[in-house]
Amino acid sequence: MDITTDYKEKTAAITALFLETFTASEGAEAGAVIRDLVAEMLSSVNAKDMYVFSALQEGEMLASILFTRMTYPDDTRTVFILSPVAVATGQQGKGIGQKLITYALGVLRQEGVDVALTYGDIRFYEKVGFALITEAEASPPVPLQYPEGWLGQALSGAQFTPLSGPSRCVAALSDPSHW
Ligand SMILES: CC(C)(COP(=O)(O)OP(=O)(O)OC[C@H]1O[C@@H](n2cnc3c(N)ncnc32)[C@H](O)[C@@H]1OP(=O)(O)O)[C@@H](O)C(=O)NCCC(=O)NCCS
Repeated sequence: MDITTDYKEKTAAITALFLETFTASEGAEAGAVIRDLVAEMLSSVNAKDMYVFSALQEGEMLASILFTRMTYPDDTRTVFILSPVAVATGQQGKGIGQKLITYALGVLRQEGVDVALTYGDIRFYEKVGFALITEAEASPPVPLQYPEGWLGQALSGAQFTPLSGPSRCVAALSDPSHW
């Protein structure tokens, strides 16, 4: 398995992966919503505000994950949110998601990112170091529909401590329906 951060040449394969994976897991409508979200993120977010990691095997797209910057103006720390994540339907349950996320978190740590957030199923994300946090500990940009999926981890320092003040996410993620 090769991991690449190049996405400019791989936009079509990455968006197709999200469409197919979420259509299979959550239905055609959800698949199209996530495909459109990822297409907008890839085309609109500045390089300094986004990391994209993809896992490939012999040119086949196995998995892809996106991190985008979260801004907490009252806090000095650098924060990125992991969302969304897809492992190709036929490749799930083989450890690929955990490997790709663990690799990516190591890169973010080296780049000086202090905190990673995500929003999803704790039973999976706890395997790669995330723990449940509250909206008081890290304000989401809009109120959460599923606060039980609000997760975070410190990449620098021993443990996560609350982030101060309100937050902003990148424009592509800001539609309240994604939260
Ligand atoms: C969720 C997903 C990213 C996990 O990636 P993966 O490569 O299949 O997962 P891995 O094989 O690395 O790890 C799976 C482990 O997490 C556990 N797990 C718990 N909840 C899980 C869940 N909702 N989905 C997948 N695995 C889950 C599995 O039991 C397994 O445990 P084990 O390693 O002890 O056997 C992938 O299955 C996927 O893309 N699913 C469809 C889209 C999706 O739900 N994306 C995430 C949105 S938040």
